[in-house]
Amino acid sequence: MKNAGIVVGGTAVGSSFILAACKGDAEEVTKTVTVTTATAKFKCPYDGQEFDTYAELQAHVEAAHKEGDPITFTKFVSPYDGAEFDSLEALKAHLDANFMTAGIPGVVSFVVNGNPVTLKVEDYWTLDFVLRDRLALYGTKVGCGVGQCGACTVLVDGVPTFACLTLGIECGGKNIETIEGLSNGTNLSPLQQKMLDNEAFQCGFCTPGFIMAAKALLAENPNPTVDEVREAVAGHICTCHNFKATIATIAGGV
Ligand code: FES
Ligand code: FES
Repeated sequence: MKNAGIVVGGTAVGSSFILAACKGDAEEVTKTVTVTTATAKFKCPYDGQEFDTYAELQAHVEAAHKEGDPITFTKFVSPYDGAEFDSLEALKAHLDANFMTAGIPGVVSFVVNGNPVTLKVEDYWTLDFVLRDRLALYGTKVGCGVGQCGACTVLVDGVPTFACLTLGIECGGKNIETIEGLSNGTNLSPLQQKMLDNEAFQCGFCTPGFIMAAKALLAENPNPTVDEVREAVAGHICTCHNFKATIATIAGGV
């Protein structure tokens, strides 16, 4: 199921379905490693409002609940491990010691498809492993694992990058885009829709990598020729031999 080709990578609807189906896996992941995902939020213990960062929570509490409120107060909760604290300071100390401080060995913060992520990674974890096995983003495929097929291509700061040759620990501060980030969850991006309309895939396993490479190409060259597309996807292999339809679809842009 995790490698369900076009169903995952080529369409957003498919991605949503697969992620929902694999929810159990994702929950298991968060139990077995110290990890935050895009869904981790800092919750105000006074009014329940949620924030993406500790700094936002701190600003809110200091502005809206400076005097405190013993009646509505619950606990400050670390969104990363559920630990509870009576004060912002205690929460901050816990985060600094265990998760948040830049420079703690093995902890990286980056953005995936617009969502901030702070993650503890082992030195040897590749980016494809981080995306798939730690963040449950199964749209990124792994074919060869050694930089020869292009299936694992994601965008790192807009640059097509083989995730299998990139270490997660290298990605601190980077902006990472995967195939899941192209649609809005229900509607395909124009490029995905064109691939679908042209049936520019067979099994679809290679398709997310082609699409991510094409996205980077079209960002620089909205109307590429066939030769320009060939050059841009030269590092990609389609074992279904569907090159012609794929390249023809990318050519001319969307
Ligand atoms: S899996 Fe990364 S290039 Fe093949
Ligand atoms: S469509 Fe099957 S590997 Fe490309």
